[in-house]
Amino acid sequence: MDMLSVDGLINSRLSSGVPLVGQVAEHIIMAGGKRLRPVLLLLMAGALGYKGTDHHKLAAVIEFIHTATLLHDDVVDDSNLRRGRPTANAMFGNPASVLVGDFLYSRAFQMMVECQNLRILDIVAEATNVIAEGEVMQLMNMHDASLDVDGYLRVIRSKTAKLFEASTRLPAVLTHSSTAVETACAQYGQALGTAFQVIDDVLDYDGDAALMGKNLGDDLREGKATLPLIVAMQRGNPAQCALVKHAIEQGEVQALADIVQIVRETGAMQATREAASAEAQLALNALSALPESLYKDSLSDLAAQLLERQN
Ligand code: IPE
Ligand code: IPE
Ligand code: MG
Ligand code: MG
Repeated sequence: MDMLSVDGLINSRLSSGVPLVGQVAEHIIMAGGKRLRPVLLLLMAGALGYKGTDHHKLAAVIEFIHTATLLHDDVVDDSNLRRGRPTANAMFGNPASVLVGDFLYSRAFQMMVECQNLRILDIVAEATNVIAEGEVMQLMNMHDASLDVDGYLRVIRSKTAKLFEASTRLPAVLTHSSTAVETACAQYGQALGTAFQVIDDVLDYDGDAALMGKNLGDDLREGKATLPLIVAMQRGNPAQCALVKHAIEQGEVQALADIVQIVRETGAMQATREAASAEAQLALNALSALPESLYKDSLSDLAAQLLERQN
């Protein structure tokens, strides 16, 4: 029911007098997507007993911002498959993708202003800013095989977990919750988002493109030192390390099969999944600050489900 209202807002607020804006935005938004961030926001609002309707608007805002980051991310990563369809950059070109991404960001901010709450504006503005920093940090780390776990975590906490954090913090603001509860909600989102991106990075080597709706090996082609590769270099023998290092430095996507084998043989795949599981556990711990409810149960189920996700 709630999600229907959010989808209604997403559709109605996409409108623009400029036809190409609508075409590009619809191309990506109507392709579906898991709508995970809006779901988190709605569940958290339920868990905190929110009675108003601003959560619908904020859920749409968060999905617009998420979609804008995807439009830009696929340009930056030169990706050609998203949500089982050609990416917007593949269909309409890079300029249209970047500009419509800007349209979605600014539409999100217009909608947020309607909520007339400066704290909400502050949280979402900060999240958007940190996401951009995360993507820039990642750009600077491209082809750097010496990136360590801390450096990797800094990127994913910014580019991905920050928006999850905003999604779960906003309901605490809407409900005028205590600082302790607001912090717990934010911690849940931050940890869940980190686990989510770690799994995304596993799936780039261990997933099924048909299920994911995006290609495997995009990270390797970009020379991204993600956790599976960082751990493989920590655990591998000198020959294995040299291969992984070379593949990151050269963005050698032809080496994908060899790299997958090394990531498996060294136990790096398993260790990376365990790192995601540890973050998911932190998310569960944070939930203990919330009163018991079916919403809280769903938030807790989500933390377990995302470890098993295939898309
Ligand atoms: C993709 O996010 C970008 C990452 C943070 C890995 P999702 O996997 O939530 O994308 P959609 O919205 O379901 O397509
Ligand atoms: C997530 O990173 C992108 C953002 C959060 C903006 P990825 O580059 O790994 O996401 P996918 O794999 O393209 O969805
Ligand atoms: Mg990408
Ligand atoms: Mg990815």
